[in-house]
Amino acid sequence: MQKKYQALHGTRDILPPESSLWQYIEAKVREVMRIYNYREIRFPIFEHTELFQRGIGESTDIVTKEMYTFKDLGGRSLTLRPEGTAPVVRAYIQHSLAKKAPVNKLYYLGPMFRQERPQKGRMRQFHQFAAELLGTLDPAADVEMIDLNLEVYRRLGLKNLKLYLNSVGCPKCRPQHRQKLLAFAKDKLPELCSDCNLRYTRNPLRMFDCKVETCQIILKEAPVMLDSLCHECREHFERVKQNLEYLEIDFELDDHMVRGLDYYTKTAFEIRSEELGAQDSLSGGGRYDLLVSDLGGEETPAIGFAAGTDRLIVAIESQKISYPSDEKIDIFIAPVGEEAKKTAMKLLFSLRRKGHSCEIDYLDRSLKAQMREANRLGAKKVIIVGERELEEGVYEVKDMQTGEQVRMPQAELKV
Ligand code: HAM
Repeated sequence: MQKKYQALHGTRDILPPESSLWQYIEAKVREVMRIYNYREIRFPIFEHTELFQRGIGESTDIVTKEMYTFKDLGGRSLTLRPEGTAPVVRAYIQHSLAKKAPVNKLYYLGPMFRQERPQKGRMRQFHQFAAELLGTLDPAADVEMIDLNLEVYRRLGLKNLKLYLNSVGCPKCRPQHRQKLLAFAKDKLPELCSDCNLRYTRNPLRMFDCKVETCQIILKEAPVMLDSLCHECREHFERVKQNLEYLEIDFELDDHMVRGLDYYTKTAFEIRSEELGAQDSLSGGGRYDLLVSDLGGEETPAIGFAAGTDRLIVAIESQKISYPSDEKIDIFIAPVGEEAKKTAMKLLFSLRRKGHSCEIDYLDRSLKAQMREANRLGAKKVIIVGERELEEGVYEVKDMQTGEQVRMPQAELKV
């Protein structure tokens, strides 16, 4: 028996009518991005592995466990993009975007790839919409980024979201926190998992990423970055908070949130939805003021966020948010007989050229069956093209909403 192929675990097909919801979300994202003056960037699905290793950080879960890395025929190590910030920064440097504009505001939509254990809201091929703002350290930019992200959710009518805020400091204040953290964890190493023991030596801040419950309980008591911020980071954080309060954007502090990527400095944020269960983070972002210079460019402060579309879909469905669906067609053309089919095809093509969404029967069905099909497709009108009608130079036009049927001279057809 022929083998039945299935989409890979952690990937899935998006079929109609669900694809209309995706299109609707994507259209909203583009609308909001235009209003906030962001321009689209499209970058490759795969890049040199090193870009992600250096950009995201060698000791992160993404780089150590989750990347789809492969060798191409030339022996190069390539990786399917697990996220978009590193590629955007690569493109920013490669195309000298800083020379073209002092501040660059970019957005992107598309699939990302991480080899995580699939569960509700967690896929191996998942989708993000995201924005990056490069070229300013202004705390107002942090607030714009948060508001931009929230605005997409507002326009979609999403409720019960919570914004969480933290500051992860900078290389000036981090060593102090690192020392405190090492001192705290030192005598707890036997109770911490093997990954955390590794993190302890490589990058102790990453212990906060640990999903093991015992580790999480222990780390609840750990010293947090907020208590070690340098003057500059503290000032910045205060101004972000003040601006948010001034703009009446609610937030909560989450001093344990470090985000899963090493490039963050200062502001880090997440938007979570209670309805999502374990995978409750709808979106996340923050500043990455050193990433451009780390990847070989001029020092350039920057901030961005990325939102998971798959999780957004779960939230939209669980909140029963309605959305317009474009599945219905305008006109169904129902020919009866061989000759009529020819005229019907001509009519079909001319109506489509005028912009009407039209369909015709390709199965030579009876008129009754064609009417049923027209109903199933939600056609507003049906044009019946019969042999007798052809001889008389007329069409029968049925309004499917009112049920009214009229004869119309072919030359005067109005739909
Ligand atoms: P991230 O937190 O790794 O950040 O991902 C952002 C969002 O992508 C998450 O909040 C989640 O909604 C979604 N996501 C991540 N992994 C999965 C998965 N396996 N399945 C489904 N959804 C997922 C970043 O990617 C950063 N590049 C964000 C950023 C942009 N920071 C600055 N600029």
